[in-house]
Amino acid sequence: MSDTSLTPTPSSSPVSTTSGDVVELDKGHHQGTGGLPERFSDPGLPPHIPRAADLDEAAADRAEKQVAALFGLSILGTLGFLVSFFAIDPDARVFIPFIGNSNLYNIVIGVTLAIAVFAIGAGAVHWAKTLMPDEEVAEDRHPIRSSDADRAAAVDVILDGGDKAQLPRRPLIKATLGGALALFALPFVVQLVRSLGPMEKAVAESAETIWDIPTEGEKAGQPIRLMRDPEMTPIRADEVTIGSVYHVMPETLQKYLDEEHHILEAKAKAAVLLMRLGPEDLTIPKQIEWSYAGIVAYSKICTHVGCPVGLYEQTTHHLLCPCHQSTFDVKADCEVIFGPAKRPLPQLKITVDDEGYLVAPQGFAEPVGPSYWERER
Ligand code: FES
Repeated sequence: MSDTSLTPTPSSSPVSTTSGDVVELDKGHHQGTGGLPERFSDPGLPPHIPRAADLDEAAADRAEKQVAALFGLSILGTLGFLVSFFAIDPDARVFIPFIGNSNLYNIVIGVTLAIAVFAIGAGAVHWAKTLMPDEEVAEDRHPIRSSDADRAAAVDVILDGGDKAQLPRRPLIKATLGGALALFALPFVVQLVRSLGPMEKAVAESAETIWDIPTEGEKAGQPIRLMRDPEMTPIRADEVTIGSVYHVMPETLQKYLDEEHHILEAKAKAAVLLMRLGPEDLTIPKQIEWSYAGIVAYSKICTHVGCPVGLYEQTTHHLLCPCHQSTFDVKADCEVIFGPAKRPLPQLKITVDDEGYLVAPQGFAEPVGPSYWERER
């Protein structure tokens, strides 16, 4: 068997291919490399074409102004973001053709932040393409650690590059770039500060649900009827038999549907389970006081991480969350008897109105949903 893989052939010698064709190999080509040279020659650099700013000081000044304008635009974008962040109502909405009814706050802070980011990037690119050194440099391979002399030379090159980038000579660019970069950090700082904002406010907001008694409108000050979900029909107390369970929403839900006001969040927080227990099953005074004839209502939102508690065990009166198996004992005011949840399900106080329909005379007395470290229990 002959080895032909890397056998050099005389220059311009004919070689047979597998298809039987005979091809001529150029000088330096080797049999067994598919006819390719083992080493390609250096194609060199294309001829250097100087830029307008290299030849004409007026063009360089124009480029400087363009770069400064882009950095200035970034400053305006950042200032616009800051003003909008504090001045625009986060719930304000605006109609945009082809998109529909949209959140004005999100659109404005998104657009202004995009302008701030884009203008800094565009200014830096334009500066590099028009004013920074326009030299192509090829470096041969060398040991990974450079010699001390090379390292010192590299520092000189960097310093020299700084000079050639004309930063000392272009104070306008230096000032606007400094301003753009300094202000650019502010949107992130204000968002961070606001998101860390007052915990009391966050806790108070998580306690607000659409079960809270309306303070205005035709239902102002009136108890809220419990409605079957999704039929949205009221529930009479005598319809709730022992062992039955209802998925319940407040009658005020329709008002929120009409207003498109964070409706999914509002609906998710408002989900309630209604169950009837035997008179002997309720022993805790507060639970009895907030119930009606053995009928109790509890938030359906698991206090672990907020899944809907979906499984009701009639004989034991246990509610099970399918996500991580937290189990709540309805007879014991929905205390956690198993699983990772750390807080009972909040109870909704109920009674009946003049027509015998179940109503909630007040909203939840504590936050519904997941427990966080800032909550008291
Ligand atoms: Fe219910 Fe985790 S969300 S147990």
